[in-house]
Amino acid sequence: MPKKLAVLTAGGDCPGINAVIRAVVKTAINDYGMETIGIEDGFLGLVEERWRALAYSDVSGIITHGGTILGTSNKADPFRFPKSSGADEPEFEDVSDAVMRNFERLGVSTLVAIGGDGTLSIANGLQQKGMPVVGIPKTIDNDVDCTDYTFGFDSAAATATEAIDKIHTTAQSHHRVMIIEVMGRYVGWLALYSGVAGGGDLILIPEIPFSLDAICDRVMARSRGGKRFSIVVVSEGARNESGEMVVRKMVKDSTDPVRLGGIAAALAAQIEERTRLEARVTVLGHLQRGGTPTAFDRVLATRFGREAAAQACGGKQGIFVALQCGDIVPVPLADAIARLKTVPLDHHAIQSAESVGTSFGVKGPVRP
Ligand code: F6P
Repeated sequence: MPKKLAVLTAGGDCPGINAVIRAVVKTAINDYGMETIGIEDGFLGLVEERWRALAYSDVSGIITHGGTILGTSNKADPFRFPKSSGADEPEFEDVSDAVMRNFERLGVSTLVAIGGDGTLSIANGLQQKGMPVVGIPKTIDNDVDCTDYTFGFDSAAATATEAIDKIHTTAQSHHRVMIIEVMGRYVGWLALYSGVAGGGDLILIPEIPFSLDAICDRVMARSRGGKRFSIVVVSEGARNESGEMVVRKMVKDSTDPVRLGGIAAALAAQIEERTRLEARVTVLGHLQRGGTPTAFDRVLATRFGREAAAQACGGKQGIFVALQCGDIVPVPLADAIARLKTVPLDHHAIQSAESVGTSFGVKGPVRP
């Protein structure tokens, strides 16, 4: 078996990726005497044969660094690869056979793929074609199934919380309804955790379709009770009772073309019209993906990277490493991609938020 691993980072970046790369490379060298090749820009590097050896010195001192030293792409699915970049109506082709040949040429035993659900789906497809893969779950959305947390989520939640704290003070001064839109795609983990941590008065998540009446009732009740401001934390994927999400744009050559965004502005207009209270909007956007990882994410990233390298060096494949009840365990890749991990309606954080007076934009308490 070749004494080498390959590693790539695909999909949206997040804090902690470099900490994972560092752990993979250092574990491979220190514990197994194996070399690691870094693939550039996710699966694009495997298509375009762009990679480089990662020496110990390349990963030294990067545990605190945001972004990814390898670069990433969310437009390079080898099974549906855009023939030209940025086209209005892109055409796609299957280049997975070429990717398999390039991987052979690379002369490594296993690919360590660091990414979210899209990346792990591609990794699973390549595994089924015969490429040995070990995955590591990464995303600020925390939507990968079978793991309690993905790395990157805690850091993004910390950034969003800090922003909410700052908005709280100006909301109080101006007696306004402040609506903060956070990322998270089709799940509400980021809004739920930052909303609870930031003491949000309303938290709106995709799993709980909101009622405008209920939102306005809550805001007015606070105002009548002497709280002349309200903090609304809304997921970019939150939707009303008719189920519509607000789509900002379509990126047609991307692996998931839908880009959400704009729900906060839409809500602000409706709340102002109904309540006559002044509303303002803050969209946190890519701020949530940047910066240095929290201590929790650095530890999780190091544990994930170490375990993935150990599994790969030990000849395991077709798995990803997951955090389950405090342990890092191998789980079949197919299980990770079977479904998105949404927020269960009986989640303790929802109950806790309601117990401290937070509304989820529905009449009455949330019940499964
Ligand atoms: O999946 C991570 C994420 O940041 C989502 O929360 C967000 O919807 C999306 O990526 C944004 O993608 P892009 O960076 O392509 O705008």
